[in-house]
Amino acid sequence: MTTEPFRVGLLGHGTVGSAFAQLLAERAEAIEAEVGRRPELAGVLTRSRGDFDDIVARSDLIVELIGGLDPARAYVLRSLGAGRHVVTANKQLLSQYGEEVFDSARRNRVQLRFEAAVAGVVPAIRVMAETLAAAHIERVHGIVNGTTNYILTEMTRTGATYAEALREAQQLGYAEADPTEDVTGKDAAAKMAILARLAFNAVVRLDDVICEGIERITPDDIAYAKELGLSLKLVGSAERVDGGVAVHVYPAFLYADHPLAAVNGAFNAVTVESPAITEITLSGPGAGGMQTASAVLGDVISAMIPPPSLPPPAVSHPIVTDVEFSFYLHLEVADRPGVLAQVAEILGLQGVSIKSVVQKGLGDEARLVMVMHPVLESKFRAAVELIARLDFVREPPRVIRVIEETF
Ligand SMILES: NC(=O)c1ccc[n+]([C@@H]2O[C@H](COP(=O)([O-])OP(=O)(O)OC[C@H]3O[C@@H](n4cnc5c(N)ncnc54)[C@H](OP(=O)(O)O)[C@@H]3O)[C@@H](O)[C@H]2O)c1
Repeated sequence: MTTEPFRVGLLGHGTVGSAFAQLLAERAEAIEAEVGRRPELAGVLTRSRGDFDDIVARSDLIVELIGGLDPARAYVLRSLGAGRHVVTANKQLLSQYGEEVFDSARRNRVQLRFEAAVAGVVPAIRVMAETLAAAHIERVHGIVNGTTNYILTEMTRTGATYAEALREAQQLGYAEADPTEDVTGKDAAAKMAILARLAFNAVVRLDDVICEGIERITPDDIAYAKELGLSLKLVGSAERVDGGVAVHVYPAFLYADHPLAAVNGAFNAVTVESPAITEITLSGPGAGGMQTASAVLGDVISAMIPPPSLPPPAVSHPIVTDVEFSFYLHLEVADRPGVLAQVAEILGLQGVSIKSVVQKGLGDEARLVMVMHPVLESKFRAAVELIARLDFVREPPRVIRVIEETF
């Protein structure tokens, strides 16, 4: 095993590039322990610092985080030509010049990885290229633009107009000052072209994607959809049709049971359909410096070593058995005064606090249903044991855990 560092040349030091540099420094030791080589920055190129040829000469791998076509395309091709692996998050480059870049990587026998180019940290590329390599993919649906998903989610939540929701998204940093690429669907179209290329092994360029944005959506559209139990999303679709391939981006209503219907805010998600697997959906943050940098660093690690078929050696950890949960507690009790107070007192003495209560009279009996704030399981169980012994409790208490997180 070599002890030479693995040298990474970084092109671009903006939102993602600077987060990547920070993450690389933080994780270098752990990566070395895992793969036997320490990744380190060999140089950084921005408009005002660094020299491209010098950085390439000193690197094993180039990370391209400049974005756009020029000069990113030339830098990527020159890096591949010099025999360097390349990791990029550049959807414009891959959706317009993907074949040129793939051919060059193939010719030069180096790796080209681009997980972060589509849906940020959601591992859609890896899963399609590796896990689903044997599946015949029929269709891919995606929410691949966080800005528009945020705007539509806010319009649904608050009844805001498109213009109001866009303004809020800009204030919170979810939308750029010039949001054209996002709201016209162009950004999503570039990502769908890349997904279609991988799903169907077909040449699909950005111009092949038929694309409609969200600018004309009104609060009325959303209000009626809500009445019908529908949610509105900017959806990308790529599918096999009549021996060919169709790729679209359009606002669409989804029934509540569709896996993309519950993807809200700035989250992204990709649903892959194939007869062999039925359907899988991957979702998570679609953008953000650190999130995207984490996907980029994942690609760098994959390029450093052949993909591991085994997990790294395990480190011994204590197994924790008593942890905090939220609980639902269901009690059948006699309907008489003071019952709820006594139950609440026992819970309180064990440090269990009640989040919500529903009480229903059923003749002489009553039903008390409550949800607790998170509490150590041992404390809650101790309280329930005491409650079960109260003379007004008619049936053994029923307890079910509640997962509180919403995203
Ligand atoms: N931001 C996200 O959340 C996100 C998510 C997924 C994918 N991506 C992709 O990640 C890539 C980088 O995005 P970003 O948001 O980090 O961009 P950014 O903040 O605009 O940073 C771009 C960087 O590239 C440098 N640069 C621009 N033109 C250059 C040139 N001609 N020569 C050398 N350096 C140049 C800039 O240098 P200066 O510092 O000198 O200006 C800056 O450091 C893009 O492909 C983007 O699509 C971003």
